[in-house]
Order: sequence, then C-alpha cells, then structure tokens
Amino acid sequence: MESSRTAVLVKPDGLQRGLIGEIINRFEKKGLKLVGLKMLLMSDEKLSDWYVEHKDKSFFGELKSFMGSIPIVAMAWEGYDVVPVVRKLVGTTLGRAAEAGSIRGDFGMSQQYNLIHASSNATDAEREIAIVFSKAELFNYTNVMDAVIYADYELDTLKK
Ligand code: CMP
Repeated sequence: MESSRTAVLVKPDGLQRGLIGEIINRFEKKGLKLVGLKMLLMSDEKLSDWYVEHKDKSFFGELKSFMGSIPIVAMAWEGYDVVPVVRKLVGTTLGRAAEAGSIRGDFGMSQQYNLIHASSNATDAEREIAIVFSKAELFNYTNVMDAVIYADYELDTLKK
C-alpha cells in the first residue's frame, strides 16, 4: 500500500473528443482527490522528458508531434494506492483491446490515440508531476468526503 500522487494527461484526442468532464467525473466518483489541474501546450523539451523511456522507439517523433499539436489537460490525483487505481480506470494501452468499463475500453479504438496517460509507477508519477506542475500549482487540503470513502484505519495510513 502506498498513499501518493499520480499524473494524468488527457491527450489531444481526448480534448477533441470532449472527454475532459467525463474523465474528471470518473476519478471524482471513484473517490480520488484532485490536487492539481491545468491546460497546457506541451513543448518539445517537456515531451522529450516525459517520454524519455520511448526515445529510441520508431514512433517517438510522431508521438511527440501528436502530443504537442494542441493543448492537453494535466491532472494530479491523490488517494490510497492511487497509481494502480488510476491505471485500472484508464485501461490497457490499445484502446480496441482495453477492458469495457475502463476509459480507453469505453471510448477508444487506437494505440496512439488512446485518449489519456496515467503514470506507470510512483517514481514516474513524481517525475511526471514535476514536469508539468510547479510546487505552487499542487494543493494540500482535507477532502471531507474521505471520511465516508475510507475506513478509519485506511485514513490513518493516508495521513502518514
Ligand atoms: P502511453 O502508454 O500513455 O505512453 C506512451 C504512448 O506511446 C502510448 O500511450 C501511445 O499513445 C503511444 N504508442 C505506443 N505504442 C505506439 C506505436 N506503436 N505507435 C505509435 N504510438 C504508440
């Protein structure tokens, strides 16, 4: 178990498809806490940092030009086991194979145009959040709903 933050980007295709509200709604309804939200055009430099693990892949240039074509919407979410929870809500990379009920499974068909990015692990989450958010753009507050979303022993762990 870990209580931490994760990064989400709604990609250009998600913005064009009008899915920002739907995506935020799903995370909110799940019981996650929004701690950062912004719209931005990703620079080539930011995208090179973001996708460093794909820098030698054949699709790297195309991926960066797609991701920098129009703005994206970046979010930071917090919660108990938030990294795997968000990845499950997002679904597997290939939209047409993603599980029904997941965001990609319900709304996507493509591999590249897969609507949304979610951090793979806690280390990536920390790195990715720092690429798009300054410290002042990330917020600490008590979500009063946590009292009915989590049991007391889970809340104790979250506060640590
Ligand atoms: P994501 O898992 O968020 O991060 C890497 C992205 O690269 C992935 O989503 C897809 O959007 C994209 N991607 C993965 N495989 C390919 C591919 N073979 N061709 C083009 N884009 C890809």
